[in-house]
Amino acid sequence: MGNHGNQVQFQVYQTMHNPDPDRLPVIFEEWEEKAREVLADGPYYYVAGGAGGESTIKANVQAFDEWKIIPRMLRNVEKRDLSIELLGHSLKFPILQAPIGVQSIIHPDGELASAQASAEMGIPYITSSAATVPMEQISTTIGEAPRWFQLYWNKDPEVTASFLKRAENAGYSAIVITLDTPMMAWRENDLKNVYLPFLAGEGVGNYFTDPVFCSRLSQSPKEDPTAAITQWTQTFGNPGLTWEELSFIRKHTTLPILLKGILHPEDAQLALEHGVDGVIVSNHGGRQVDGAISALHALPLIQEVIQDQIPVLMDSGIRRGADVIKALALGAKAVLVGRPCMYGLAVAGQRGVREVLRNLTADLDITLALTGESTVRNLDASHLYKM
Ligand SMILES: Cc1cc2nc3c(=O)[nH]c(=O)nc-3n(C[C@H](O)[C@H](O)[C@H](O)COP(=O)(O)O)c2cc1C
Repeated sequence: MGNHGNQVQFQVYQTMHNPDPDRLPVIFEEWEEKAREVLADGPYYYVAGGAGGESTIKANVQAFDEWKIIPRMLRNVEKRDLSIELLGHSLKFPILQAPIGVQSIIHPDGELASAQASAEMGIPYITSSAATVPMEQISTTIGEAPRWFQLYWNKDPEVTASFLKRAENAGYSAIVITLDTPMMAWRENDLKNVYLPFLAGEGVGNYFTDPVFCSRLSQSPKEDPTAAITQWTQTFGNPGLTWEELSFIRKHTTLPILLKGILHPEDAQLALEHGVDGVIVSNHGGRQVDGAISALHALPLIQEVIQDQIPVLMDSGIRRGADVIKALALGAKAVLVGRPCMYGLAVAGQRGVREVLRNLTADLDITLALTGESTVRNLDASHLYKM
């Protein structure tokens, strides 16, 4: 129990007579503008852009505006508790860092910087299969800090099994299987900029250090990077997968399994029937299907099916504390934060990501209090009005 938000607020106002020349932004839009200034077109649009005409990106953000918070009064919100229980672990905040690959294109310190910022904040870090740095190095860098591993289900089943084994050995405590990316979407900006970082050897750290992946090559990735990248392009996505094959993953890991990219209520039902441990309602930040349902619109439809039998998480459009409140009120147990952290990374590396997370959690704490609740666990749809 505490008042994290007021403490952060106080620290900021204390600098009134002693301004910090290196002061970082507070406002999400300002982080994005500053990231635009430091990143070249290729990397910037790879992060900020999405599928087709990018209508899903817009829908994700607009959806939050359709729900309004109805604050309650006189409810003693002096001490607040932002913590939750998730898959048997206690988390300080209902927030995780979304899996994001190829962070070396954003900042030279890449995933190591964002993972360390997460660790400093006690926010679980979800390592992407497409990290530039191998999953073991991220683990070693953050020590005992909480972490999950996100799996891109490789066409080569033995590579998939190897990733699962490595994640378990490296101390990851859950597996997130991202289902919405059996192939890269039609991303107009990346095509315009002729930009796909994997082809330049970025974002392949897990693959190029994998004993099974490397056993498929006649020379090591170091000796013949072109052949290794070609092997990667031929095996990265797996559009032939079906629900029945989830049993393969279960066979190869004892860790809890969450499915990321669930948007249709019938898929939520299938997730339950296949015995997974959680779902993440997400449209990949609008990067996969143009014109898709916003994640926030999908969330209550999914929760109606799941009925709290397993945790429902969500991402795609979380920018501010009020967004977290709305997602939790609509049934999310926790949210994942994606692009805001990446703009923080672009602008100021580890310090930038930490600042983004510190501001988001402070905003959440204060907005929770002003909504009239002292714990995030009490948020429900009675706090919301749909426009
Ligand atoms: C640059 C970039 C790379 C991403 N890479 C991955 C990835 O490797 N694996 C994954 O499951 N999701 C990936 N995502 C999607 C995020 O996990 C998350 O769903 C998305 O960022 C949420 O949207 P928002 O950031 O607009 O809130 C990526 C997103 C971005 C912006």
